[in-house]
Amino acid sequence: MSKLRIGIVGVGGIAVGRHIPTFQQMNDSVEITAVYDVNEERAAQVAKDFDIPNVVKDLEDIFPLVDAVTICTPNKFHAEFTIAALHAGVHVFCEKPMAMTPDECERMREAEEKSGKVLSIAYHYRFMKEAQAAKNIMQEGVVGNPLVTRVKALRRRKVPGWGVFTNKELQGGGSLIDYGCHLLDLSLWLLGNPKPVEVLGRVYNSVSRKPNLLNEWGDINAESFSVDDHVTAFITFEDGSSLQFETSWAANIPDDEESISISGDLGGMDVFPVRIYKPSHGVWTNSDVTWMSGDDNPSVPQATNFVETCLGQAEQVVKSEEAATVSTIIDAIYRSHELGTSIKL
Ligand SMILES: NC(=O)c1ccc[n+]([C@@H]2O[C@H](COP(=O)([O-])OP(=O)(O)OC[C@H]3O[C@@H](n4cnc5c(N)ncnc54)[C@H](O)[C@@H]3O)[C@@H](O)[C@H]2O)c1
Repeated sequence: MSKLRIGIVGVGGIAVGRHIPTFQQMNDSVEITAVYDVNEERAAQVAKDFDIPNVVKDLEDIFPLVDAVTICTPNKFHAEFTIAALHAGVHVFCEKPMAMTPDECERMREAEEKSGKVLSIAYHYRFMKEAQAAKNIMQEGVVGNPLVTRVKALRRRKVPGWGVFTNKELQGGGSLIDYGCHLLDLSLWLLGNPKPVEVLGRVYNSVSRKPNLLNEWGDINAESFSVDDHVTAFITFEDGSSLQFETSWAANIPDDEESISISGDLGGMDVFPVRIYKPSHGVWTNSDVTWMSGDDNPSVPQATNFVETCLGQAEQVVKSEEAATVSTIIDAIYRSHELGTSIKL
């Protein structure tokens, strides 16, 4: 069977740290044939380091050499590059968030539909074994109808001091669009993708604008810091359920915390770690999970699902429509803060 030929667009941190080594582990089904980066020197170096045969100087030149591309550029270019690839008849695996605005997501989805090719987004939290176990538990109806969900993606002092993460023009925001998006995506998926109807958000960045921030992840410029480092939101859904959401890169809290807690009409569940709360046999029970199947590293199952979807061998886990809803909520949170009112969707 011929291998899926993959091109890497943007060969910075996530490409070199995750996508290239992961695809190269899957060498029975995949071959990385080309790279493209605006930084030609970096592209040439990465091609040499990873033994990739082609370095192209223009985006368009990569398409004849590949069946699929992975878009690993700053968020600003996700939409433009994805649309170009789909128009060229190439499958796309785009880094998260899907794009910077709901309008860009819409145009990406139109291109996906027209092309008949695969468009998936790298929301890798869904492939964590805890997430997979939680999805099974939800699908088995253990919690019943979800009523109230509490989501936290909190870092006490981990503002990424490298790369473009604090560049508003290239990324579109800070902690919410970079980090909170993962937990928001995972929650919506676990809940069965309820339709959001109203969003109230508040956005902060005072902590990172204090001089001499004691930051674990490198130095940041307090004076020019303009993105969010702490965000709260309240989201309601068409089915009457609601989600309380909080994310931060820098918050005055005792420790980092990642949690999703779902309370339904039959029972409840936490995801990190997986725990079930349920009345049964006339008593309340709290169940800890003592073993679960799955990979400790979500990169491999994520890449495998993308490749198998392209080859028509698997159902796509992260659908573009779902990733677009995450971007719609993120946009509504930012707008809600700016306008000082809730946003009806
Ligand atoms: N899934 C995750 O958990 C995760 C983690 C980190 C980053 N990301 C996402 O990956 C993307 C890239 O992040 P990164 O940390 O690798 O950034 P990075 O800055 O390390 O790398 C970006 C690369 O894109 C190149 N580039 C910039 N503009 C370009 C253009 N116009 N055309 C071609 N190449 C261009 C840069 O030269 C650089 O090599 C972002 O969307 C980010 O949100 C996702």
